[in-house]
Amino acid sequence: LSLAVLISGGGSNLKALLDAAADPDFPARVVAVFADTDAEGLAHATAADIPAAIVRPRDFASREAWGDALARRIRESGADLVVSAGLMRILPAGFVRAFAPRLINTHPALLPLYPGAHAVRDALAAGAAETGVTVHVIDEGVDTGPVLRQARVAIVPGEPENELHERIKQIERPLLVATVRDIASGALELPVGASEHPITPH
Ligand code: GRF
Repeated sequence: LSLAVLISGGGSNLKALLDAAADPDFPARVVAVFADTDAEGLAHATAADIPAAIVRPRDFASREAWGDALARRIRESGADLVVSAGLMRILPAGFVRAFAPRLINTHPALLPLYPGAHAVRDALAAGAAETGVTVHVIDEGVDTGPVLRQARVAIVPGEPENELHERIKQIERPLLVATVRDIASGALELPVGASEHPITPH
């Protein structure tokens, strides 16, 4: 299985995938990395000799046009699974339809709880006793697609957001790697969801 990984930040989840894929027995390879901004994590791709590029939304007339350009680049890379690993941007509907259901995201909460960009902060603000991580198929909503795998993390009372997020990420990286491995080996099937829009004959 060939992966295109999308990032915005430090790319520690990308690094976990690259490290896993360095093992010849791992059934997936990272073939391209794309960021929407000058992401620090691009250095992990460069270090591993994986083609990496920044595709900036502001260089396009619309979000859809950005998504179309990104989709074209991903197709050119030969990837057959898109992994959003810390991409802090909502993928446009046209992009989602182009790859569904072969695009997944990792989110630092137990969805459907705490969707959106502030999942860790929101779990703390809610006074939750636990939170966690979800790997799910991306659909046209925000963090709403079919859940593939989840893992729980207990919240330490009074814990700062960055420390909780770091503990979540320690669980998140192996969960993402295991999910990708299971998709690649066929142990986990991607659900065919509503976002596939099959063409109905008239
Ligand atoms: C991850 O927790 C991801 O779920 C979130 O942002 C973090 C990205 O971390 N939305 P990294 O860039 O992979 O280190």
